[in-house]
Amino acid sequence: MPIHACENSWILETQHTAYVFGVHTTGLLAHRYWGAKLPYPGDYPGDLIEDRLVTSSYVLKEIPFNGLGNLVPQEYPTGAGTEYVEPCLKVSFADGVRDLRLKFERAEVADPELRIHLRDATYPLSVILHYRVWEAFDLIERWAVIENAGDAPVALERVLSAQWHLPIGGHYHLNHLNGRWANEFQLRREPLVQGVKVLESRRITTSHHHNPWFGIDRGSADEERGDVWFGVLAWSGNWKMAAEVTDFSSTRVSIGLNDWDFRWSLEPEQSFTTPSSIAGYTEQGFGAASRHLHDFIRETVVPHGDALHKVLFNSWETTLFDVAESSQAQFAEIAAAMGIELFVMDDGWFHGRKDDYAGLGDWWPDAAKFPNGLGPLIERVNQLGMDFGLWIEPEMVNPDSELYRQHPDWVIHFPTRSRTEGRHQLILNLAKPDVQDYLIEKIDILLSESNITFIKWDMNRNVSEPGWPDAPGEPRELWVRYVQGVYRVWETLRQRHPHVTWQSCSGGGGRADLGILRFADQVWVSDNTIPTSRLAIQGGFSQVFPASTMEAWVTDMGEEFLPLEFRFHSSMCGVLGVGANLRQWGEKEIAEAKTWIALYKEIRPIIQQGDLYRLGSPFTDEFIGVQYVSKDQTSGVLFAFLLHRLDPAAPLILYPRGLVPDRLYTIEGYSGARSGAAWMKTGVVVQLPNFGSTVRRIWSEK
Ligand code: GLA
Repeated sequence: MPIHACENSWILETQHTAYVFGVHTTGLLAHRYWGAKLPYPGDYPGDLIEDRLVTSSYVLKEIPFNGLGNLVPQEYPTGAGTEYVEPCLKVSFADGVRDLRLKFERAEVADPELRIHLRDATYPLSVILHYRVWEAFDLIERWAVIENAGDAPVALERVLSAQWHLPIGGHYHLNHLNGRWANEFQLRREPLVQGVKVLESRRITTSHHHNPWFGIDRGSADEERGDVWFGVLAWSGNWKMAAEVTDFSSTRVSIGLNDWDFRWSLEPEQSFTTPSSIAGYTEQGFGAASRHLHDFIRETVVPHGDALHKVLFNSWETTLFDVAESSQAQFAEIAAAMGIELFVMDDGWFHGRKDDYAGLGDWWPDAAKFPNGLGPLIERVNQLGMDFGLWIEPEMVNPDSELYRQHPDWVIHFPTRSRTEGRHQLILNLAKPDVQDYLIEKIDILLSESNITFIKWDMNRNVSEPGWPDAPGEPRELWVRYVQGVYRVWETLRQRHPHVTWQSCSGGGGRADLGILRFADQVWVSDNTIPTSRLAIQGGFSQVFPASTMEAWVTDMGEEFLPLEFRFHSSMCGVLGVGANLRQWGEKEIAEAKTWIALYKEIRPIIQQGDLYRLGSPFTDEFIGVQYVSKDQTSGVLFAFLLHRLDPAAPLILYPRGLVPDRLYTIEGYSGARSGAAWMKTGVVVQLPNFGSTVRRIWSEK
């Protein structure tokens, strides 16, 4: 039983961790402990604030300036009374009262879920805090439901998913992912000091700029060792994460929907459910933190978690919008001969799409490019033994399109403001059910009429003029209702076409999160396909997401300084794809590509389904090592990349991980089997020239 309840306190235990909170003598719901699982229930601390009050008369004197709510680390603070820490919930009642005092009502245990019912002392507003224990993954999932049982609406001004507390008094470092278009997922690290560090998106999608993930350590954790508290938000729209160190050295992370420009009118008898935040703790560094998330995503989040993803070809970087039946068929022939399994046609195939000025919204084949529809091309691709996939960008419309001419009011806009275009396109208001229905209908027709098994769903701009002129209620609900609309369209199509694999793309990695991964199995991680940049992008991405979700193409980018081998190796670290101009590749390149694709097919179960170990970091080391080990630890694969050699005399040694110490393993390129312990302790010496790379298989002796 992972949930232990005792006198209004709760211990949530996973395999190796525990999370403890209870009702404080003041009636506040107080956090007590989050860390390693301890031997006995009595080992966990009681109310932290009591210890402080007894031991520090100084603190007592502070009380007029710092109410108890400021001192007690609360599970879901509301900013009531003299409480100034980051709140999770901020409301305004119909009578103008903006003070919310939640009191504990009752708890419901429905293992592995715990529900804590809180209610305002006077107003009929309830908050149900949900805690779901994911025992095997060492993770806790939290979300909140706000219920209005009154007869007047209540305005929600902030409604977060959770506040996660770290042990009081520690000095912590925040690790997070920052970037921009074509440079996503750059790992950043900084000390947390008194005050609030905010990371967020105001762009209506998750964004290229920050990802809703945190990893917090005591400043000394590495890939292998050290306490790490980590978490994510499963949401694909505006989000916010506030890492706060109070003036009493209490560190916490509040995470949830962004309250910037947010307002939600909670009508009588209605409830509001926040997205989930999923978090965990490990003593084994950032590597273990990532592996917990990877397993969780593969086993519980993505639709086809145990599927092995196919090697795809996509001509976007070569042809841009210039796609047509015959030229695509030519690519298909070369791709099939190389061993490609999935042929994806990118942008340019639909009505009026000659460039990026026109067409978005009109999701039927362009009659000039495909006079007989997509059927003949798909048949050809299928005859060649490949599956067929297609690119769409459903949320967008070009002013030059049939759809926009018919429904100019379907876009997000303010009537008195000009409509800012991004890439000559506007965003359809997916908060509107009729827009959702239009998209469901059009995409459903495509999927029903043709043998399409893969869809790349793109989203190529950020929001502007966030207006919803004919909103039935509060127009600022747009931010949330838009994302719910995207989810509804995606979910309906997924239900109708369960065999289709979806990829989430937003000009690269602008929409990668555990919300969208409930529908999409993969992410197009970046439009930057230069392998040297890509290794850093992939390294950051791997903090959160497993290799099975990481689509990576070999293209012609970087060919002037990187051998084909390097370009293949870097893409083989995820789901391999090819996006190069095959018509210009010579026989030698095609033959080499064939070999790498064949090797990838052999090792992909280890890469896509195994455990990842980062052996050298693209952010700090002169060489990068990435290793995957099968779940049964019988086989593995090791990649190494040298980016720039500062000291040619220094040996490059990689220390493999994840092997069984007393089992004998052979590593390709080295004669003789040695124990896992020997490989892990004495390492593997790698000889590489500048911009060189290698892949080595690892197998255990039968
Ligand atoms: C985005 C994607 C690219 C490609 C283009 C097509 O930029 O990230 O991979 O699909 O759109 O317009």
